[in-house]
Amino acid sequence: MKNIIIFGAPGSGKGTYSEAIVERYGMGHISTGDVLRAEIKNGTEVGKVAKGLIDNGQLIPDELMIQILAKTYDALPQGCGVIFDGFPRTIAQAEALKKMLAERGHDMGVMVELIVDEDTLMKRLLNRAIEQGRADDNEETIKKRFAVYHSQTEPLAAWFEKEGMRHTFTWEGSKDLMLANIFTFLDTLK
Ligand code: AP5
Ligand code: MG
Repeated sequence: MKNIIIFGAPGSGKGTYSEAIVERYGMGHISTGDVLRAEIKNGTEVGKVAKGLIDNGQLIPDELMIQILAKTYDALPQGCGVIFDGFPRTIAQAEALKKMLAERGHDMGVMVELIVDEDTLMKRLLNRAIEQGRADDNEETIKKRFAVYHSQTEPLAAWFEKEGMRHTFTWEGSKDLMLANIFTFLDTLK
């Protein structure tokens, strides 16, 4: 499978759909949020930097994030495709990813954008707070994450459009339907 960049607001389903895609196509998966949460859990230097920023809904600096991404990518088996979940989140990260992959003779592949209304996102994340207790799933921090998404990440959609990579999928109330639409598209790439 080609590389896939899964893109969308907090709670849009990047992690959920990534798991389903990995199961169907047998590819690698990098969730930068999960990588950072593991660093925090292990008490590393990166984790110490990340904790305050994540708890406040802010992004980790690009330079550090790009280093982490390259290291994580190089540790995965090569050749079966990778789904990038939560990266890139800024135009600088997108340019860096393009360069990093080109240096390795790889392609960025396609971008899958999940479009979900904000009321639904808020409900999902508050529900996850009860189920999983993620530190950044509280109303105040979620609002900051939405604001950061709108100001720093959403403009990237136009960057992907220019690259001819953008494919959008809009939430219409059914997880199965959204997933079926994504699979129908991804099946054409195999
Ligand atoms: P990250 O972990 O990536 O968080 P996020 O972008 O806020 O997204 P979430 O993981 O909250 O949501 P999701 O889209 O994965 O949705 P999910 O499938 O879980 O990043 C966290 C932080 O790390 C950032 O704020 C930043 O500080 C830092 N960071 C990470 N990457 C970075 C980068 N590249 N640069 C700088 N900083 C970075 O679904 C949400 C919930 O909804 C789940 O509980 C799910 O079960 C539920 N759900 C209910 N119905 C549905 C449905 N129909 N479809 C999908 N999910 C559903
Ligand atoms: Mg996630």
